[in-house]
Amino acid sequence: DWTMAAYRDEAIRLIREQVGDAKVICGLSGGVDSSVAAVLIHEAIGDQLTCVFVDHGLLREGEADQVVSMFRDHYNIPLIHADEQDLFLTELEGVTDPETKRKTIGRLFIDVFQSHANRIEGARFLAQGTLYPDVIESVSASGGPSVTIKSHHNVGGLPEKMGLELVEPLRELFKDEVRALGRELGLPEPFIGRHPFPGPGLAIRCPGEITREKLAILRRADAVYLDQIRRHGLYDEIWQAFAVILPVRTVGVMGDGRTYDYACALRAVTSVDGMTADFYPFSAEFLGETATRIISEVQGINRVTYDVTSKPPGTIEWE
Ligand code: XMP
Repeated sequence: DWTMAAYRDEAIRLIREQVGDAKVICGLSGGVDSSVAAVLIHEAIGDQLTCVFVDHGLLREGEADQVVSMFRDHYNIPLIHADEQDLFLTELEGVTDPETKRKTIGRLFIDVFQSHANRIEGARFLAQGTLYPDVIESVSASGGPSVTIKSHHNVGGLPEKMGLELVEPLRELFKDEVRALGRELGLPEPFIGRHPFPGPGLAIRCPGEITREKLAILRRADAVYLDQIRRHGLYDEIWQAFAVILPVRTVGVMGDGRTYDYACALRAVTSVDGMTADFYPFSAEFLGETATRIISEVQGINRVTYDVTSKPPGTIEWE
């Protein structure tokens, strides 16, 4: 639409004005916001932009490949793919406390990002996909006492630490406007409509200890669950849907044998902004069919439960 076309042109002009001929670094998460910011900035300044994608080993099935092929191969944007799975998973060994998980991941993320960014010569700017609601939230958060429910994963404080200036071309936009801008920039529709995915990734969907084995099982279960949701045409009605692997094994029976495998929980919510949410009322048929598919297709899971907690009192993520 013409308003977004005008917004894009103006944003491009402002980026060129701010950046001049300096270099810009942009952290990609695979999410819509950082992707739209990156493509917009690339339109403005071309190869003066380098993206850094940190793979912490906590992504969903196929996600790292999708990000790399879209940015490097499709858009031709210079991209550093920092495969740091071993580092993150080793540091997370034995960690079960949710806040410790978040802080460990946040700290490593900053270290890794910084060490890659330091190698980009002449970098003076750091691009971020900050949206208007993030701007408002950080202003009100600093305005008075509040309770921290979960420490959020972001790169706050990083620009000062690295002596970089911020480029935030989405600062005036709401989520739906970012999606419209993404369409204007030609990002593929399935990408634009993607559910949000948290920075700490699958770590907070794996209560208790995180192991490679559990992550592999979780990835498979999550992929089958989302495939079911897409097949039934429900993806766009849902704010977020994902599987959680529970730190418990239960007894089951398959064929004429006994099984002793992990249980998983499925989560799906509707929401406008993630601040409050209702559990999604799947039909019993959908739930039954999905459970059957997960148990038969995913080795390591023999029981499936559905989370019927709304927010509040639950949070969307389990940790
Ligand atoms: P909760 O679990 O607090 O989640 O109800 C609300 C929304 O925020 C997402 N979320 C995060 N996003 N970094 C993010 O970028 C984080 O650390 C993080 N924690 C939760 C969550 O997926 C939901 O959309």
